[in-house]
Amino acid sequence: MGLEAASFAIGGLPLPSCVVLAGIAKVNRAVVTRYVGRLQNELLSRILKARILAATRDFSTTAHTAQRPGWDDQKPAYVPGKTTIPYAGRVFDEDEVEAAVSSTLDFWLTLGPEGEAFEGELAEFLGVKHTLLVNSGSSANLLAVSALTSPKIPEKKRLRPGDEVITCAAGFPTTVAPILQNGLVPVFIDNDPITGNARVDQLGLAFREGKTKAVMMAHTLGNPFDVAAMLRFCRAHDLWLIEDNCDSLGSTYSMPASMAKELKLDHLLKLAEQNSKVSPSSSQPLCPSTTIPFIQNGILTAYTMHYRDWETDRKSTRLNSSHSRASRMPSSA
Ligand SMILES: Cc1ncc(COP(=O)(O)O)c(C=O)c1O
Repeated sequence: MGLEAASFAIGGLPLPSCVVLAGIAKVNRAVVTRYVGRLQNELLSRILKARILAATRDFSTTAHTAQRPGWDDQKPAYVPGKTTIPYAGRVFDEDEVEAAVSSTLDFWLTLGPEGEAFEGELAEFLGVKHTLLVNSGSSANLLAVSALTSPKIPEKKRLRPGDEVITCAAGFPTTVAPILQNGLVPVFIDNDPITGNARVDQLGLAFREGKTKAVMMAHTLGNPFDVAAMLRFCRAHDLWLIEDNCDSLGSTYSMPASMAKELKLDHLLKLAEQNSKVSPSSSQPLCPSTTIPFIQNGILTAYTMHYRDWETDRKSTRLNSSHSRASRMPSSA
């Protein structure tokens, strides 16, 4: 990092100089012959932060090998009979740990630059228009359902107290809780004892014309439910499908491109065209929710933001603006 006269609050160096940020050198006081000055606080903070982040990366590389993604060759090899296979868990490397520590050092404990960057990158990865970051999967579920109660949604489609939402009998508690929290009525269908997922053959039994407005369920333990059957049913009856993807981010579901077209999964077909690694059929349909609700529909994003951000339009106005992320951040960010 370059140092010049303006870098110093007190004193200075006779010539432009530089500070090497890689590594920490400790100097014995006895060998210090002369203090030349004191750096400006802002610069000193940047130097200290860079050193902390470099040490953070070293720490994470050493301490978190087991959490690295499966394709990473620094992840310890799988040893049959020895390596534990968790049903779920965090997957991260030093990039995420550095980002988390960086936010903490800036004391960005709410949505800040890292969170906003993550929203954009995840949306791009998923091939959806928007993702919204919230504090937990349960909050995401609550937001996804609450957004559909917005008075701005046409009455026929709006979820109103007393409306019915089809879900499955053995699911996650906070997949069901938002239905009740919004005064809606959960109507349960059975789980298949083999797959653990909802029995789509019971959807018709649970449906009541004029009463049923949505289907909401999770992919059990991350194994996709019958997405095609579920979507076809929702399309046929003009119902919302709210997926709780808390356990299934990264799961894939395949169907022929012709079926994806029939089910109007155009955004996924587009993603498949752009990215040969993604099959034309994989992944998330309508309005799923994990820690982030993935949303294809700009208007719904705005309604969801209203619920997340205290009913204000402050952030949703961003959806229509093209200015850069950095320019929206306070200068201290
Ligand atoms: C399917 C499903 N939905 C919702 C949640 C709730 O997520 P959180 O614990 O982040 O509130 C979980 C958590 O494990 C889950 O597995």
